[in-house]
Amino acid sequence: MEIFLDTANIDEIKRFASIGIINGVTTNPALIAKEGKNFRDVVNEICSIIDGPVSAEVISKDFKNMIEEARKISKIHKNIVVKIPATEDGYKALSIVAKEGIKTNFTIVYTANQALLAAKLGATYVSPFIGRLDANSTSGNNLIQEMATIYKNYNFNTKILAASMRNVIYVKEAALAGAHTATIPPDVLAQMMNNELTNVALDGFLKLWYELDESKREYFN
Ligand code: G3P
Repeated sequence: MEIFLDTANIDEIKRFASIGIINGVTTNPALIAKEGKNFRDVVNEICSIIDGPVSAEVISKDFKNMIEEARKISKIHKNIVVKIPATEDGYKALSIVAKEGIKTNFTIVYTANQALLAAKLGATYVSPFIGRLDANSTSGNNLIQEMATIYKNYNFNTKILAASMRNVIYVKEAALAGAHTATIPPDVLAQMMNNELTNVALDGFLKLWYELDESKREYFN
């Protein structure tokens, strides 16, 4: 499973890139705005840190401007994946820019039908918003399973990018359901790495180790 970091925060991206645990980054207009910096500068800096897909989103709602923005954004760096929202104009923009070879992330997806149409139009990634679906009393995990079945039935190359991963259980369930990728906020990714029982066991082992006579620990000195 590909793991993307869902943030535009440079310190967090450096933190997880240095561990070697992330394959890419996703942003959206809200995440970029949160950093209070120029869009192009932020995207460029992210691309200089991580050698993998970096999603950056169009901000227009009409297809003509979406297409213009997609072309401009895609030129920032070879690893750019242009995020296009799942609106009628979004499908129109997707069908054109996908044919031009621009990598795309069709986003804010809530139904299997939206995901089917995006795959037909050649989306590179499709992002179902799992946490937001669950918050609206609909199973996000069912949607991933449906998408996985549909993409398999028709041999679509489009990847399922599980988004709005608001807790660690969502990530595990997305992996079990067959998502190719998950984009995960920094706090959730940190939780995935850690377990209190690991720390308890480790402290117990090292306590006994340091009770051993120092001469018998010479290998490590
Ligand atoms: O890129 C942000 C997307 O993953 C939405 O996350 O938690 O705002 O629903 P959230």
